[in-house]
Formats: sequence, structure tokens, C-alpha cells
Amino acid sequence: MADLPPLGDGEFDVIVVGTGLKECILSGLLSVAGKKVLHMDRNDYYGGESASITPLEKLYEIFKKPNQPDEAKMGRGRDWNVDLIPKLIMANGLLVKMLIHTDVTRYLEFKQVDGSYVFKGNKLHKVPATDGEALSSGLMGLFEKRRFGKFLTWINEFDIEKKATWGEGFDPAKTTMLQVFQKYSLDKETMDFSGHAIALYTQDDYLNRPAVETIPRMKLYSDSLARYGKSPYIYPLYGLGELPQGFARLSAIYGGTYMLNKPPEFVYNADGSIQGVKSEGEFAKCKLVIGDPTYFPDRVKKSGRVIRAICILSHPIANTDNSTSVQIIIPQHQVNRKSDIYVSVVSYTHNVASKGKYIAIVSATVETNDPEKEILPGLNLLGAIDEKFVSVTDLLEPIDDGTKNQVFVTKSYDATSHFETTCLDIMDVFQRITGKPLELTTPKNAENAEGAEAAE
Ligand SMILES: *[C@@H]1O[C@H](CO)[C@@H](O)[C@H](O)[C@H]1NC(C)=O
Repeated sequence: MADLPPLGDGEFDVIVVGTGLKECILSGLLSVAGKKVLHMDRNDYYGGESASITPLEKLYEIFKKPNQPDEAKMGRGRDWNVDLIPKLIMANGLLVKMLIHTDVTRYLEFKQVDGSYVFKGNKLHKVPATDGEALSSGLMGLFEKRRFGKFLTWINEFDIEKKATWGEGFDPAKTTMLQVFQKYSLDKETMDFSGHAIALYTQDDYLNRPAVETIPRMKLYSDSLARYGKSPYIYPLYGLGELPQGFARLSAIYGGTYMLNKPPEFVYNADGSIQGVKSEGEFAKCKLVIGDPTYFPDRVKKSGRVIRAICILSHPIANTDNSTSVQIIIPQHQVNRKSDIYVSVVSYTHNVASKGKYIAIVSATVETNDPEKEILPGLNLLGAIDEKFVSVTDLLEPIDDGTKNQVFVTKSYDATSHFETTCLDIMDVFQRITGKPLELTTPKNAENAEGAEAAE
């Protein structure tokens, strides 16, 4: 390969392929740690699967629509920034901790999401996460409300470090979550929305696992809710694609090199370890490669499929208080499934759509041979749909931990509605690469943390 002209400077510590959020965060963190990073993408836009597509014409092109958007109906194409994967940010979650740790908050502006709803008995209900909200909720009868209120109070006071808050004879590592629900005499419906709309599990396995796993997830929801009041979620102006771009800027400040429109080819040594990356007749050496799974068909396996339907609307979703942004969870049992359906809505108020327009994304893990039919309960909540873009994507994950070949592959973005699993994967890859866990600290100039403060 030595005879090929150099790609970039020709030699790097790390070459990252794909500019999705996971890859951009890793590239940012490693650049800050002093590594020389080359970051490349085969596409002519940033963000890979976690891009926000602009202008609207580009979205039509990506989804191979035969027509072009009608400007009279859709407004100006460049007013649109359409996310390909729908996720919201937990205000107190890991992604916010990463943004604060790296000070990337300074490149972004957030707005809080107006509401969090759950579908039950063919109706939408606001998700209660405090004692007071539980009492005014239409989700439960009077006595169940009291029991649920007590349960929530116990959850919110629970502190794993303070045994006195656990309750008489209760060991969170030995008691299952189902036993906890039973202790408070909560009915199946209440368990359902606690597990799915508050702890945000997509399936029911958690019921038979130790309660110590579920309690922090419920606390994360209520702590995040306490931060801004209307919902536990925040969302960046101009779309989720701003997130990878923010981390790419961080990497660039620390000397990272960025190249778009560069399809990579991986070159290995005789012992299988990575030698470098070739692209369009140029070559760069490196010590390790990080990339999203779509770049490594021979190093990944399929673990499932996700369907996502991006729908453009001209109105807010009925029965959500005319909210310009919401999350709706349809728990599995409400629609006879094994996993939940999610609907997330953002709008022109986040600078992601032209005036008066809304973007609703319905998503779910695929369970049958007719995925579009599976998400009908979600689509039916939307009312008239102006335009729809449907994708069914394989969920891919690496077949090894990457340490042998020094090729570290991330997992696909799953069907969960927020970034917690995304961040756990990033932290896992970081630890495999550096041998050390990622410590998320608040930087000294902590007032920058207020950059994460959501605008009203
Ligand atoms: C929602 O907006 C419409 C149209 O502006 C209005 O008629 C309706 O009363 C609003 N509903 C709520 C719940 O605020």
C-alpha cells in the first residue's frame, strides 16, 4: 500500500468511518484524549443514520420518491431538517452528561418537549410521574391512584446508597420488579405503563429481573421531568443531526480531519489486524478503526429489524393539548404485541419543518412479515398524513469485541425512544478501545452546563 498516494496525512492513530452520532462522539472523545483522528463518510452529508436531512428535496431523493415536494404545500425545502431515526433526549440522561462533559452544549440550543403520553383503552393519557400527577390522571381508578401514588413516592425517595430508604426487609437486588408491583397491589395495567411509559422498557423481561435495574430507570424519568416540568425530554433546534455535528466540531478543534463522499476499503495485515484504510486510490495507515455496522458486512450479525415511518402533518396530534412536540408510547399489551410502538412528534417550532408543519415518526421493532400493518395503531393516531416515508432497517451488531483486529464496530440504533442505549454502546466501545471506563465529569467552567438549559 506504501506506493499509493496518502489519504489525508497518510498516517493516523484512529480512522473513524460513518459520521453517525456514536462515531462522532467517539471521534470527539478520542481527539480530546490526544489521538490523531481521520473521520470519513461514504455519504455527501454528515450524520449517517442519525442525520437530519435537509433540504426536503434530499429526503425525497433518499427515499426514491418519484415526485418532488410541492413548494406551495410544503413550503421551502431548506426550512426542513428531517431526522431519519426518532429519538428524544432525557433531560437528566447520559447524552446530556456527555454533552456537558465535552462542553458540546455550546454549539446547540434545546427546547423541552411538551408532553409525554401513553395509549390505553383506545385513548391517550398524560404519563403521570409524580404523586400529584397520578392523582389527577384518568389512567386509574381512585384506589389504584392512591396505591400508585405511594409506589411513586417510594421510588422517588429510594436511594441505592441509603439502606434506610429501601423499606423494611427489602433487598432491591433480590426482589423482582414484579414482586415490588405486587407489594403495592398494583394492577396489570399500572405495571404496563410504569414499565413501558416510565421505565421505558420495550418488552416485559424486566418484570422477572431484580428491581434494582428498574428503579433507576423510573427515577431517571422523574428526575428528568422535574428539571423542566412538562415532559422528561428535550430536543435540539434544527434536529438531531446537530448532535453528531457538534461532536465533529469538537474533534476538528482538536485536530481531527473530516472527509465526506469517501467510500472506505479496509486493509488488513497478514495476522488479521488492521493496517489502514484505502479510498479512491489513496491510503492511510492507522492503529485502529471505529465504524458503524453498515461499513462491515462481514463483521456483523443481524439481531432484528426496525420499521420507521416518517409522516408529515399539517396539524398537531388530536388529544395532545395541541402540543408542538410529544412522545406517545403504545405499550405492547394494548395492541397484542411483544414490543411497544412509539410515536414522536416535533415541528416547525424546532426549526425542522416549514411554518405550520409537524413531523411524526412512528417506529417499532418488526415482529411479522407485514411491518407496515404492525404500526397501524400508531399511524391511526396521526389523522391526515400529507406525505409518508417508510423504511425497514436491519439491526446489526458486531460479532466480536474488536480487540483482536483493532476494528471496533458500533451497534445499529435500536427502536428505543431515547438515547440511553446509544450512550451505553458508546461507553462500551470506549472502554474496549482504551481499557478504561469513560468518566463523565462536569467541566470546571460549569456555567456552560446551563447551555443545556432548555428554552421555553
Ligand atoms: C387546539 O387548536 C384549535 C385550533 O386553533 C382550537 O380550536 C382548539 O380549541 C385547541 N385545543 C386545545 C385543547 O387547546
